[in-house]
Amino acid sequence: MSETVLRVEGLEAGYGGFPVLHGVDLEVAAGEIVAVVGPNGAGKSTLLKTIFRLLLPAGGSVSFEGSDLRRHPAHSLAELGMGYVPQEHNTFPDLSVRDNLAVALRGSSPVEIRRRVNEVAEAYPALRDRMNQNASTLSGGERQMLALASAMITGPRFLALDEPTTGLAPSIVAERIQDILRIRDAGTTLLWVIEESPLVCLPHCDRVYVMQAGVLDRPVSSKEVLEDAALQALFFGVDHAADT
Ligand SMILES: Nc1ncnc2c1ncn2[C@@H]1O[C@H](COP(=O)(O)OP(=O)(O)OP(=O)(O)O)[C@@H](O)[C@H]1O
Ligand SMILES: [Mg+2]
Repeated sequence: MSETVLRVEGLEAGYGGFPVLHGVDLEVAAGEIVAVVGPNGAGKSTLLKTIFRLLLPAGGSVSFEGSDLRRHPAHSLAELGMGYVPQEHNTFPDLSVRDNLAVALRGSSPVEIRRRVNEVAEAYPALRDRMNQNASTLSGGERQMLALASAMITGPRFLALDEPTTGLAPSIVAERIQDILRIRDAGTTLLWVIEESPLVCLPHCDRVYVMQAGVLDRPVSSKEVLEDAALQALFFGVDHAADT
């Protein structure tokens, strides 16, 4: 059994006294890609925000590599080895691509920032050609690439992605999936929230948690989710004709 990287136990959270997460348990082991799927409003983003301490839990615990995150404020988690690409506002539109990447490295020396930005430019050639453009001029797929690169530039051992392919054309979805697999192959463990394109995304995931109304069931294999007609109808709608 691989070492547990992320352990969420009995997590409760919500907004202004309105509960959203109801005792969520989740584990991610080293080297895995674990998916969280579920319909709009189920609480998927709330789960990630609570893991990353942007929302403080009303109960339960989150630990990363055995360390209880209660002792770590949100801004310290990148240093701890945790990366997060939120669903929204995940780039700074008025900053250049280069400055978006540099902001993620605030606190590092200028020499170190230059070295890391050059490394990212090698790994994401589409960004290399756009270093001086404002992020607002990028396409949706390029913006998601920049958000991913901004999270990866600090060298996280664990990365959480909130719907990184939603709203993208199928060919661009395929590109972002290749980026995600490359990140996994280089040794980063992933938690991936998926809402759109489950048929193309889920086969790459080791285990899948289904979230419904703030409750996570026990994890299942992506094969089980994709072959279970009731789950498909409930979580992905019945029309899969466009999702290839
Ligand atoms: N900032 C907020 N203030 C109050 N309620 C919120 C806030 N953000 C989300 N909610 C509510 O919390 C519930 C869960 O929302 P959440 O964004 O976690 O769902 P989700 O599964 O990520 O949905 P989606 O697939 O649309 O991204 C919803 O009822 C939503 O309306
Ligand atoms: Mg969401």
